[in-house]
Amino acid sequence: MLKKRLALLCELIEGGGPLCDVGTDHGLLPIFLVKEGRVPLAYACDIAEGPLSCAKRNILAQNVEDRVIPVLSDGLDKIPPGSVKEVVIAGMGGEMIAGIVNRAEWLKDGVGLILQPNSRAGFLVGWLCMSGYRVVRQLAVLDGGIYYTALRAEYDGNMWSPTLEETILGGLEKTDPAAREYVKREAERLRSAAKGMSRSRDQISRQKVKDIIKAVTVLEQFIGED
Ligand SMILES: C[S@@+](CC[C@H](N)C(=O)[O-])C[C@H]1O[C@@H](n2cnc3c(N)ncnc32)[C@H](O)[C@@H]1O
Repeated sequence: MLKKRLALLCELIEGGGPLCDVGTDHGLLPIFLVKEGRVPLAYACDIAEGPLSCAKRNILAQNVEDRVIPVLSDGLDKIPPGSVKEVVIAGMGGEMIAGIVNRAEWLKDGVGLILQPNSRAGFLVGWLCMSGYRVVRQLAVLDGGIYYTALRAEYDGNMWSPTLEETILGGLEKTDPAAREYVKREAERLRSAAKGMSRSRDQISRQKVKDIIKAVTVLEQFIGED
């Protein structure tokens, strides 16, 4: 059984073609996906020998060495362009994920991205929108007392600059209770940031506070606190 956070990623994976898990660590996700028949083949990549050895041990223990290929790679550098249908990058900061996606131009050629930032999710959504990637769907989950969000993005070439609230809402849906809880937490975080900045007299901070208050209002409408 996968942890809830990893199970959430499976909901965003279409499957049916080769997949690459970047920063695989234990390799549990690609092993699960091939065992379940969701994908025919998976690359389990990691930048460090230690985690990759752990993945290799798990691959052998689960007898999937013919279908899960461990690769020592910084991001997607060692993955042949065009060889996978979907890429998962989970459990890293939003900026690091954006950097890995940015370095692999070939992802723009119809590759589905399943991304789960551990921090700076809003930054990642903003970067995706400004870089021509569309957030197709976004989900949230509570796992071990922490709210996580994960999204599916695909390149469509349309570049735009989202507002603060749009980066938080991304592809989340009002009908998803976990998404509402996640947005509630983000609204609280922004509210306390605005409170901290509100004593400042400089013009830029005052404008920032106004933008944050506007964003909080939109987020509250999303969670039904209007
Ligand atoms: C916190 S673990 C996440 C493991 C797994 N993806 C998950 O979500 O449970 C992050 C992993 O990413 C790897 N990593 C960090 N930077 C990387 C990069 N540039 N390319 C590939 N792997 C990277 C680390 O070595 C580590 O094993």
